[in-house]
Amino acid sequence: MQYFGIIGYPIGHSVSPDMHNAAFKHLGLDAIYLKFEVKPEDLRDAIFGAKALGFKGFNVTIPHKEAVLKFVKPVGIAKRIGAVNTIDIPKLEGYNTDAYGALKALESAGVDVEGKVALVVGAGGAGRAIAFILAEKGATVIVTNRTESRGLKLAEDVRKVGDCIFYPYDKLEDLKGKIDIIINATPLGMKGFEQKLPVPEELIESKVVVFDTVYNPPETPLIKTAKRKGCKVVYGIDMLVYQGAEAFKIWTGLDAPVDVMKKAAFSALGLH
Ligand SMILES: NC(=O)c1ccc[n+]([C@@H]2O[C@H](COP(=O)([O-])OP(=O)(O)OC[C@H]3O[C@@H](n4cnc5c(N)ncnc54)[C@H](OP(=O)(O)O)[C@@H]3O)[C@@H](O)[C@H]2O)c1
Repeated sequence: MQYFGIIGYPIGHSVSPDMHNAAFKHLGLDAIYLKFEVKPEDLRDAIFGAKALGFKGFNVTIPHKEAVLKFVKPVGIAKRIGAVNTIDIPKLEGYNTDAYGALKALESAGVDVEGKVALVVGAGGAGRAIAFILAEKGATVIVTNRTESRGLKLAEDVRKVGDCIFYPYDKLEDLKGKIDIIINATPLGMKGFEQKLPVPEELIESKVVVFDTVYNPPETPLIKTAKRKGCKVVYGIDMLVYQGAEAFKIWTGLDAPVDVMKKAAFSALGLH
């Protein structure tokens, strides 16, 4: 039996066990994926304890994605982003599959980001991953954030790999007509959070692709408005599934059954 898990604090909300266990079952693998609530002060013990117990892989979620860098070596884009969401436990190597998940969600909706102007709203873990991958893939990234200092820092970091500027959150209406892709990487629209648009409505023009990383509910105020205006939309659930599929491949070397994982995620969220 191979052991996998996700650590976070809190962790009750995670649908990753449902996605991965469905994939293991579908492929007939003798493996199990569990969730563990780990307090920040116990993070080191959790990582080294998992290694001692012979775990193969961990996903890492809020609030450990950056702190875990003290214990694992970041690989690839995780190094530049400064955050890890997937760990190869035997090697103690950390990956960032959120970036890949976001890119793959856009690509699978037929969106090529190269040469496009992308507005990333939010400079937390998800915003950082998305801003980096889009800049690396040739988009011009405009970062905006409620807390200006955090957004300025992200834009400065991303400029090391591509085109990126910061634009003030309270001046976004100036960008009307200049944006190709809008990405929400804030919790606005998420169940339990404020149900409002993360950008001024006039920015949501029919030619704009709108990607909401929020996946619960799938139809957020942003997605509803974008659909009403005839925009192409990209759903957060796709990012969630693709980041999980990439983690699955890192751990097992196998292509993940994406449709099986998506169905399991929907069902765990009570959506089907
Ligand atoms: N689909 C997926 O696979 C996936 C994966 C990861 C995250 N997400 C989504 O992305 C969201 C952000 O996650 P995260 O890990 O980046 O969180 P985080 O690190 O806590 O960052 C949250 C970001 O949202 C901003 N924000 C929070 N409340 C806001 C408000 N009321 N108005 C405007 N901005 C606000 C924060 O701005 P300040 O800097 O001013 O605090 C910060 O930039 C989550 O809520 C989740 O829905 C989706």
